[in-house]
Amino acid sequence: MKHITILAAALLVAVMPAEARKAKKFTHQTVEIPAVEPQSIVIETAGSQLVLAVTTDRNLVLRHYGAPVKDAGQFTHMDTGRGNGAQAYPAAGGTFLGQAALHVKYADGNHNTELRYLSHSVKASGGVKTTEIVLKDYVTDLQVKLVYDAYRKENVICSHSEIVNGGKKAVELLEVASSSLTLEADKYLLTHFHGGWAYEMQTARELLDFGTKVIESRRGTQTTQTENPSFLVSLNTGEFSETSGEVVAGALAWSGNFRLSFEKDETGLVNVLGGISPFASAYPLKAGETFVTPEMIWTWSADGAGGASRNLHRWARQYGIYGGGTVNPTLLNSWEGAYFTFTTPTLTGMIDDAAAMGLEMFVLDDGWFGTKYPRNSDKSSLGDWDLCTDKIPEGIDYLASYAHGKGLKLGIWIEPEMVSRVSELAEKHPEWVVQSPGRALYEARWQWVLDLANPEVQDFVFGIFDKTMQLAPGIDYIKWDCNRPVYSFGSPYLGTEQDRFFVEYVQGLYSVMRRIREKYPDVLVQCCSSGGSRLDYGAMRWCNEFWTSDNTDAISRSRIQYATSMIYPACAMASHVSAVPNHQSGNVTPLKMRFDMAAAGRLGMELQPKNLTAEERALAYRCIKSYKGFRDLVFTGDLYRISSPLDSDYYAFMYVSEDKSRAVMFEFCLRYQNRATGGHLLRLAGLDPSRKYLVTEQNVDTSCWWGNGQSFTGDFLMSGGFNPVLNGSNASAIFVLAAR
Ligand code: DGJ
Repeated sequence: MKHITILAAALLVAVMPAEARKAKKFTHQTVEIPAVEPQSIVIETAGSQLVLAVTTDRNLVLRHYGAPVKDAGQFTHMDTGRGNGAQAYPAAGGTFLGQAALHVKYADGNHNTELRYLSHSVKASGGVKTTEIVLKDYVTDLQVKLVYDAYRKENVICSHSEIVNGGKKAVELLEVASSSLTLEADKYLLTHFHGGWAYEMQTARELLDFGTKVIESRRGTQTTQTENPSFLVSLNTGEFSETSGEVVAGALAWSGNFRLSFEKDETGLVNVLGGISPFASAYPLKAGETFVTPEMIWTWSADGAGGASRNLHRWARQYGIYGGGTVNPTLLNSWEGAYFTFTTPTLTGMIDDAAAMGLEMFVLDDGWFGTKYPRNSDKSSLGDWDLCTDKIPEGIDYLASYAHGKGLKLGIWIEPEMVSRVSELAEKHPEWVVQSPGRALYEARWQWVLDLANPEVQDFVFGIFDKTMQLAPGIDYIKWDCNRPVYSFGSPYLGTEQDRFFVEYVQGLYSVMRRIREKYPDVLVQCCSSGGSRLDYGAMRWCNEFWTSDNTDAISRSRIQYATSMIYPACAMASHVSAVPNHQSGNVTPLKMRFDMAAAGRLGMELQPKNLTAEERALAYRCIKSYKGFRDLVFTGDLYRISSPLDSDYYAFMYVSEDKSRAVMFEFCLRYQNRATGGHLLRLAGLDPSRKYLVTEQNVDTSCWWGNGQSFTGDFLMSGGFNPVLNGSNASAIFVLAAR
């Protein structure tokens, strides 16, 4: 049996006094690693393939992520010209000098880890095939299990790692990525999503060059302000394409600090790592303990960004979003229509109006709670989740039965992770507040974050949800808000182990969510965080939908919703019609455009209906009614983006049913420059070229397209026959297509 030796430096000798050097003979024991027969481990979906190879010296290397190859075994002995090639899960230590997926500090101060293949197993269940590969460091007995779940039909591979401290002493995980993927191409165009409050999910595109590009959040509670934990890389091109070329997309299922990094090395390879951010998180792992990282969701497509998005959406509807793909009710939310100022008649009036316009649920937002300190502004009361009887003396049960009596469901807002400085909770449990001894307790929106690393706080937060659900029989929907990041982090509960804080905060949150779902599997939960600041597949595992942004301006929403659609499906994208001038942007847009934009996701309204004219109410009724006729396509259809609001004056996209028998097409004119251009030519997509589709514009008496009400073949519509005239900025149109 051939033996491989691990080299370890004995530099100490060099700094010893000459006498001692003479006396002490250089000794170095190396742990022997038995050689192994090379083999390939193939992880594949219907349309993609990830090939890992085990080399003779037990390195696990990535050979291929791309189109399926029939005999993938041919990759086993591939000479990459780069030695072993790209490590599947590179660890800091040995000869590896790039960015590491795993960096461990051992009890003796050593930083070297060299992972070698031990074994692997495969099991299948339904459409998912799970491959588990065990690697180990032969010196320290640290083990790493790499888990790959291949979703065959959806062309998605989810991957995470589990670190097992098989040694006798505690270690520190200085860096621990969920997954690593090395790409090889001539060019790499990275698309990622930055932003802040009211401008979440802004698109940034840049070519990756030598060095390391890092996308990160250190906000503790919020994943989407600054950056979203997701991206696309278009390969071998500097141009973004919806329809063609290889694209690898990734998203991390984690609702706390994260880091995605892209290191282009000296040979031109790009190594992508995704995982929890190592910031202040040198996680201590005791002997025998296991650390499980969150999932990284990968997809590969040869059909450009559109193909990658459709893969992710299909996966998300089936596996990634709680209750994904089922139609959620239209609603009226009280926030922008009433803010903190309401009493029961305000709310029952809104319920009446919502019912009259054909909406299906009323959601009571912020402001309903607080007895000693009534919640009349954002300056108080978070933590005191008792009904404010000054505002609703009749009780939530009255409101619920009033709504139910009108045929509406009822939803209610909470922000359970937070406590206001002015609150009974802050007086009673100051030790539950995230804080650092001796340092300022910085407020944000007059509130502090509760220490979810503390199990007592977890019980309290679960209790808030539970108690809110008990306010009335038939609460159908909870809007879960989270309006600030963590400053001067510190957990009184964790004492000197503050390195655990950021990780255990999120684990605490998930443990609360798990308990909630055990007890309330059917309640609809919206994930909200100052708008869309907690948009990630970690939170979506527990939530039915996300609040996309507090910015409800249809023009701003075109960019936000466009970018959101790159990674997240429309079934979970809450989108509301609000008043003009828009409360965030000041823009004034037509009500029709606001409805058409909101109809691209889960449609809602967020205004005081009393302020609408009779004509506007009639339009609202009409738009809501037509939405109900095509919304199954929004919730379950395949998205084809036709024209981007970033690169064009027109924003257009469609949702097409899986069997291609129906589709709904949206178009918005964002900037109108030239009256002489007439109809704007669009090439539809995703249709069956040979079938004939009846095309019907929605919500208008006079259509903007000459062909409205007639039938055309899919190839005609996809090859340049569709040219509606959207005359003027902020004009919009929705067309329903039905195969005959
Ligand atoms: C922030 C959310 O994004 C809003 O929709 C609203 O719920 C407010 N919080 C309430 O305070």
